[in-house]
Amino acid sequence: MSKTIHLYLFKSEKHLAPFLKKKRIEGKKIGFVPTMGALHRGHISLIEKAKDECEIVVCSIFVNPTQFNNAKDLEKYPRTIEHDMEMLLKADCSVLYLPASQEIYPEGKPELKNYDLGYYDKVLEAAFRPGHFQGVANVVYRLMKKVNPAVLYLGQKDFQQIQVIRKMIELENFQTKIEVCEIVRELSGLAMSSRNVRLNEEAWNNAAVISQTLFFLKEKRNEFSSVKALREEGIKRLKKIPDSIVEYLEICDAETLRPVEIIVKGKLTIILTAIWINGVRLIDNILIENKLT
Ligand code: PAJ
Repeated sequence: MSKTIHLYLFKSEKHLAPFLKKKRIEGKKIGFVPTMGALHRGHISLIEKAKDECEIVVCSIFVNPTQFNNAKDLEKYPRTIEHDMEMLLKADCSVLYLPASQEIYPEGKPELKNYDLGYYDKVLEAAFRPGHFQGVANVVYRLMKKVNPAVLYLGQKDFQQIQVIRKMIELENFQTKIEVCEIVRELSGLAMSSRNVRLNEEAWNNAAVISQTLFFLKEKRNEFSSVKALREEGIKRLKKIPDSIVEYLEICDAETLRPVEIIVKGKLTIILTAIWINGVRLIDNILIENKLT
């Protein structure tokens, strides 16, 4: 007999909160996957991990205007809600929370809290997207207040975002645990992203060089005389991609995100990059798990 699958859809906290409260009283663990929609297998991997660990999985879809530092990017952000709902149904997600803008920002023009995110709000993504992480921290705070999850599922794809949300959770004294999920890639190695649909065929093929470069740097790191030389080799390879602008490629301590001068065995290090290809901004990263084993 086939299983009946439900996807509860809530557009407002008024109905979502009592539903989740009841589940909590029944002792059910709530996992939360915040997204901006245009769902792909990367998002679904978060839902699946949450399903493995929690009885109730809430996915939110909200294209958050306060994290876009570029009005065109917000306007062009793909919106595919029917397709998203189908994917969530297939993944057996329990709840879709689909708030309207006034539900998240009832004050109209959002008055954002200013979180002290320290160094995380100065470098890498923050340097190229001013205000982006304040927007992310504020929206995730507002969503979490409504969902009140035991566990929050985030993708390694947005590595700096994880650190930012971790900091916000600490500042707001949430008890929520964070689970990080691996980057899901296309066969070519290209990290899945909602923005990939904006790449034409040629750019899509060329974009595979991003992950190829990261994998190369990880594999060959010991063959370079210095981290500086390793980084320069990475930038050189990325710059060869036609119609590209490399914003950054940095080799950092995975916890502090400060650039490292040497790669220390046993200390988790990360290579992060952001690059425009054919007018589309893409990010990717790779962890160097240089542990003594
Ligand atoms: P969005 O870009 O939709 O991503 C939602 C979640 O999916 C994030 O945790 C992201 O890291 C994860 N994700 C995206 N691509 C992935 C991939 N290829 N593999 C694994 N996970 C992937 O990130 C946001 O939305 C927003 O900033 C949000 C947190 C929802 C706040 O608005």
